[in-house]
Amino acid sequence: MASLISKSAAFFGLLSLSIAAPPLLVRNFAPQDIITRDVVIIGGGATGTYAAVRLREDFNKTVVVIERTGRLGGHTETYFDPVTGFPVDYGVQAWIDGPIIRAFTGRFNIPLVAAVQPPFATEYIDFKTGKPVVPPFTQADVTTALTTYFGIVSQWPFLVGGYNLPNPVPADLLLSFGDFVTKYGIQAAVPTIWTFAQSVGDFLNTPALYVIQTFGLPQLQALFEGGFVVPADHFNSEIYLKASALLGADVLYNTTLVDVARHDNGLQQITVKTPTGQKLIKAKKILVTIAPTADNLKPFTLNHHESSLFNQWQYTTNYTRIIRNGIPDDVNVINTANGTALNLPTLPYAQEFSFSGIPGLHTFHTVSVKPQKDQDAQNLVLSSIAAMSAAGTIPASTPSIEVLSNHTPMLLRVTADSVKNGFYTSLYALQGLKGTFYTGSAWAGDYTSVLWGFTDALLPGIAAAAV
Ligand SMILES: Cc1cc2nc3c(=O)[nH]c(=O)nc-3n(C[C@H](O)[C@H](O)[C@H](O)COP(=O)(O)OP(=O)(O)OC[C@H]3O[C@@H](n4cnc5c(N)ncnc54)[C@H](O)[C@@H]3O)c2cc1C
Ligand SMILES: *[C@@H]1O[C@H](CO)[C@@H](O)[C@H](O)[C@H]1NC(C)=O
Ligand SMILES: *[C@@H]1O[C@H](CO)[C@@H](O)[C@H](O)[C@H]1NC(C)=O
Ligand SMILES: *[C@@H]1O[C@H](CO)[C@@H](O)[C@H](O)[C@H]1NC(C)=O
Ligand SMILES: *[C@@H]1O[C@H](CO)[C@@H](O)[C@H](O)[C@H]1NC(C)=O
Repeated sequence: MASLISKSAAFFGLLSLSIAAPPLLVRNFAPQDIITRDVVIIGGGATGTYAAVRLREDFNKTVVVIERTGRLGGHTETYFDPVTGFPVDYGVQAWIDGPIIRAFTGRFNIPLVAAVQPPFATEYIDFKTGKPVVPPFTQADVTTALTTYFGIVSQWPFLVGGYNLPNPVPADLLLSFGDFVTKYGIQAAVPTIWTFAQSVGDFLNTPALYVIQTFGLPQLQALFEGGFVVPADHFNSEIYLKASALLGADVLYNTTLVDVARHDNGLQQITVKTPTGQKLIKAKKILVTIAPTADNLKPFTLNHHESSLFNQWQYTTNYTRIIRNGIPDDVNVINTANGTALNLPTLPYAQEFSFSGIPGLHTFHTVSVKPQKDQDAQNLVLSSIAAMSAAGTIPASTPSIEVLSNHTPMLLRVTADSVKNGFYTSLYALQGLKGTFYTGSAWAGDYTSVLWGFTDALLPGIAAAAV
């Protein structure tokens, strides 16, 4: 009797084991639908492309990149004007020069030139009233305040490497940026900082940490020393086209994640949906480069600890586009509110219209901290132009929107309290757990050079682990 019970217990034990087995093991993939690699890279933007090329070419690892769209490059986007055939970069504008940028552009034979401020007139206009506003600060005030700001942020050189924050976190970094500006009397620097860091969204009410990560030491050095560079042919997407050609079939385009089964030891099993059906990827390690929001990571079946971190992100909604025949040629207009703190417009807003150098075409950005639909962003832009022409600031026009691009989510961030309580220590401690590594804009300052540097620091560890 006793032996029968223990036998059936053993039997039921086996049964429950097989029931608990992940559904993936049940699903059968034909051999041609199974892809075996050292590293699977999720996202083929700036960091995913960089990591794929370097892991394959420099670390001798096999890779596959999972990219949701039909192209590499992410936030780097180029529009070809059908009238002139000239390129207009309406995403990433310029790189901060340095050895990392030189090495990666060099391997694709992309010559660089200094990004020069084009000689177009800049006008400060309140996009609500459409009327010109006198810029609130003189150039001398601006230079003095920026120099002061440079001195302050120089105290925290570790920020260039990401969010390896000391404990305790310096109190200044946790101040709202508005309080930080008041404390240091750097009001005159704010309009300049804002033009670089509007992606922060609610700029004055966000911890100074995030403004500094968007406009800090690397950007200030580049600004003061003329260190912004662009490809000589002004075609920022070219490097990603060349990387795409190099990587060939190691990129799966128009592909999304279905299920990600992770393990501390052994193979990671990633099911993806491709244009030619589902495939199973068996990889030693995973490198996540997409924004690690709970929504994006749903296929990962996050554990409680991971969810508690990834559920905390707040972010900005950011659209970039090109408009034709809205603003006169050779003119840039910057939204400068009359009657708000430091003349900053109230969210949501169109930030500026920048002349592209090509007749008729201006690029623009819109920012919102609340979710925005394409139509909302479009209305914001058209009403800004309508206000300017109604006020007689610009001639009446019939603008048309040529391209649109949604860059949401931008600038992932958490509350000052969470930063203070060690959010980034916990976040960074996830590196390598469950066979998964992370890079991309949530993990360091959102600039190509900074993110490639952050990625570089990870690659030897990933390569060593993927054996
Ligand atoms: C409008 C704009 C202008 C900018 N200008 C500059 C600049 O001038 N200089 C500079 O240095 N930096 C600039 N940046 C910062 C820029 O974000 C970084 O330089 C860099 O592109 C970030 O790289 P990333 O790999 O983190 O993200 P991305 O380049 O955005 O790459 C993410 C990739 O993952 C893909 N993806 C997303 N979700 C999924 C999913 N679920 N499954 C599969 N694939 C997915 C996306 O399609 C994308 O290709 C700008 C950013 C924006 C939005
Ligand atoms: C690259 O990796 C393969 C497979 O692991 C190995 O056989 C080969 O010797 C490696 N080549 C170099 C140059 O390290
Ligand atoms: C991706 O999908 C788009 C839109 O359907 C299509 O135009 C493009 O050719 C596809 N690209 C690839 C590489 O499959
Ligand atoms: C700015 O606002 C003030 C009142 O707050 C008003 O007197 C002034 O005319 C406005 N200037 C412009 C250019 O609209
Ligand atoms: C959108 O984000 C990019 C990158 O940070 C920035 O260059 C651009 O100015 C942003 N636009 C707005 C309006 O926030």
